[in-house]
Amino acid sequence: MDRIVVRGGKPLTGSIPIGGAKNASLPLMAASLLTEETLTLSNLPHLVDITTMAHLLAELGVDIAMNGHAPNGGHAGRTFELTAAAIANTTAPYDLVRKMRASVLVLGPLLARAGAARVSLPGGCAIGTRPVDLHLSALAKMGAVIDIREGYVEATAPKGLKGANIVFPMVSVGATENALMAAALADGETTLTNAAREPEVADLARCLVAMGADIEGIGRGTVTIRGQKALHGAHHAVVPDRIETGTYAIAAAISGGDVTLKGTRFDLIEALVEVLRKAGVEISEIPDGIRVSRANGALRGADAMTEPYPGFPTDMQAQFMALMTVAEGASMITETIFENRFMHVPELCRMGANVNVHGSSAIVRGVPKLSGAPVMATDLRASVSLILAGLAASGETVINRVYHLDRGYERIEEKLAACGADIERLSD
Ligand code: UD1
Repeated sequence: MDRIVVRGGKPLTGSIPIGGAKNASLPLMAASLLTEETLTLSNLPHLVDITTMAHLLAELGVDIAMNGHAPNGGHAGRTFELTAAAIANTTAPYDLVRKMRASVLVLGPLLARAGAARVSLPGGCAIGTRPVDLHLSALAKMGAVIDIREGYVEATAPKGLKGANIVFPMVSVGATENALMAAALADGETTLTNAAREPEVADLARCLVAMGADIEGIGRGTVTIRGQKALHGAHHAVVPDRIETGTYAIAAAISGGDVTLKGTRFDLIEALVEVLRKAGVEISEIPDGIRVSRANGALRGADAMTEPYPGFPTDMQAQFMALMTVAEGASMITETIFENRFMHVPELCRMGANVNVHGSSAIVRGVPKLSGAPVMATDLRASVSLILAGLAASGETVINRVYHLDRGYERIEEKLAACGADIERLSD
């Protein structure tokens, strides 16, 4: 199993290309099930989760042409042409769903296009129970008949889905995406209230509009969709990855460097920018990207609380905590989205961090220096927080279970090494 070794203490300088968002790409790929014509997606990142979704879609009958070897080694993103001329199969099997929870995003499109879907329940997950009840109740409101049998959600809509008023009791990215895709082919008008406003949800909605959907309120909490008889092919470029952007912004800050993040957008990370500026990080918008530096001055403790977009993203919580472990003073970090998302804390503490968790909050008291250690993590963002900590630590940090990283970060060690980090991947 691969490991990543980081020897800390080198300020990062240079430029890092930011790819398309993983969390936008996955629902966008699933949206190809909604039409018999070809959906062309560009700026897709090269990640294990994308490959998993491609395998799942292939099982369902989607033909995928990948013309994706970008001339500069993948930086420009890959392009997939996805054609679901006919739905060959409506089952998303356990083996694929358990690898990637986002497989559940095929439920809405399958049901809307084929009138039936059988999708394995994702089961337990490292960062909390993460049920799919909101996905199911939204589809049930649209007339789907849903049963849970042998670990599978079995949904049918023999007479097709019907427009409905759906009020989400809490904000869910995935449930909003499933409902949007289903409503695009439903009979009549659907209103989603308390819909997720994440840029990835808005990106999906824009792509659906390019495919012929009629959607009002994109990027807002109330969205109205007037269903169409059929959607058509389209071309869509995936929105930049705001979590990759934020992660490398913290890499620049924690190493005391000066880095340009290319191909991304400042407006996608405003909540993070506000907190980073409070912590003493310089961050500004430049043409085609963002510049982040911490050339002089110490980091200061700053508080953050995760919230649905446009609030501080839960997917940046672990990385921000890594930064706060070496700030002057204290920081309170509160996690409101997932109940079990502090698994990086014991590993950061093994590197010398001073962090105490009380319920859903963590108090981080900054220390002058972290020290490298062998560490491992149980999810994607927790793993990357350990790499960030390693960039600031003295000595060597060895991160095990690198497969988590490969689900969400494309060539992370190459991107960091290109800016002067002492980092390498070791294969056994
Ligand atoms: C997506 C992102 C993930 C991010 C999360 C929150 C993808 C592929 N993943 O995950 O990286 O951390 O948004 O920004 O886009 N919930 C329920 N019932 C449901 C669905 C969700 O109770 O049916 C709860 C979850 O347990 C969680 C909260 O709602 O506490 C938010 O989850 P949700 O927004 O649905 O996250 P995902 O779409 O799974």
